[in-house]
Amino acid sequence: MRILAILALCSVAARALPDARFDDSAKAPAPVASPKAPASAISEDDGRVWAEFETPGKAERNALVDAGISLEEIKPGRAAGFATPKALARAAAKGLKPAVKVSLRARFGKLDFPDKDSIYHNYKELEADLRGLAARAPDVASVLSIGKSTQGKDILAIRLNKGARGTQASAKPGIVFLGTHHAREHLSTEVPLLIAKHLVDNRAQPEIARLLETRDVYFVPMVNPDGVEYDIEGGRYHMHRKNMAKNADGSTGVDLNRNYSWGWGGGGASPHPDDDTYRGPSAFSEPESRAVRDFVEARPNLKVMLSYHTFSELILYPWGGSDEPIPDAKARAAFIAMAGEMSKMTGYTPQQSSDLYIATGDTCDWAWGAKGIYAFTFELTPKSMWDGGFYPGAGVVQRVLQANIRPALYLIDLADDPQRSIKGPSAFAAAAR
Ligand code: ARG
Ligand code: ZN
Repeated sequence: MRILAILALCSVAARALPDARFDDSAKAPAPVASPKAPASAISEDDGRVWAEFETPGKAERNALVDAGISLEEIKPGRAAGFATPKALARAAAKGLKPAVKVSLRARFGKLDFPDKDSIYHNYKELEADLRGLAARAPDVASVLSIGKSTQGKDILAIRLNKGARGTQASAKPGIVFLGTHHAREHLSTEVPLLIAKHLVDNRAQPEIARLLETRDVYFVPMVNPDGVEYDIEGGRYHMHRKNMAKNADGSTGVDLNRNYSWGWGGGGASPHPDDDTYRGPSAFSEPESRAVRDFVEARPNLKVMLSYHTFSELILYPWGGSDEPIPDAKARAAFIAMAGEMSKMTGYTPQQSSDLYIATGDTCDWAWGAKGIYAFTFELTPKSMWDGGFYPGAGVVQRVLQANIRPALYLIDLADDPQRSIKGPSAFAAAAR
């Protein structure tokens, strides 16, 4: 008993958890950073609550995100998400009081993800799979690091290109698929990883062979590896969204999808470090968002981006930080055409990002605004918190992968000229099938 307790304490010190709020390891056995360990429950409460607001509309939603609440589920007349007590007080000061307010443990504590969730990839397993994939198809696949995370992990990418490997330049039209900006959105790692695998395994199929011959395709399945590893630490889920930066106030993490420079510091991104949607001390303050920025800036051939998140089954296009339509009407028509086609393939709902709520500093606003890259956010399965939310289990992975293969092929094909999407159905369009 005594020895166990000392071991547990040692492991706390060794991991140097930056924030006592998250330190629930004292009650846990020695941490095992693998989802294969029995996952019986959500971790201890960390002060945040799940709050549901009966909200008539978008003005209230914007006020809630401005108060620092991370809205996760939006339905007609209702919005729900994670909030610190302080964020709830800020919302209350604007006259917005939750109809339902429960601790994370009370709300999610019964979620139970036993061994079957082990098919999800932790960081090591992702690395092994990416390297294995490149090793078995060296003619087309190579692995590269796009930079280091806060805690020094390589942020890994797999590149599919028949002519160029690693960091060699390519003049072919390029596309990048990004996963897991948000730690707890584990399905958003699986989808880009498994699409890469699908392309490699089926590289002899004529349509895939043509794409790999003529395009430069990148997958970065885990933009936030530190957050992912923390979220599964101890074999339990921690509902962690942000990276693992140590904030000035002692709290942990910056919301990487609020840390890009386009519109940074505006609405829907919290200035309070302990909020789930904390934007960080400055634009690109985080090594993970800087890695994505530097990766993109070094590759002017990139024309399309898809950033996977979970959940809600949506296809989002810019702007996210403003209700205005993007100024270029032709580009907007292309965004709408592409989102519409991909909606037919997936059943996901297409909309401008800010229709959900205004949020500044996201990846896609920067990619479009600063770089002219046609950038989409997919909110993957499930549709709602009640269908599993961030932890829908292993059973959905194959179905979600299958739904997302066609949209990926469609976008890879259009990378040479996304404007083709408005001229009529392209080879990979749903309408062409
Ligand atoms: N749910 C994601 C997030 O909160 C996507 C946001 C998309 N952008 C937006 N402005 N609504 O980061
Ligand atoms: Zn997300």
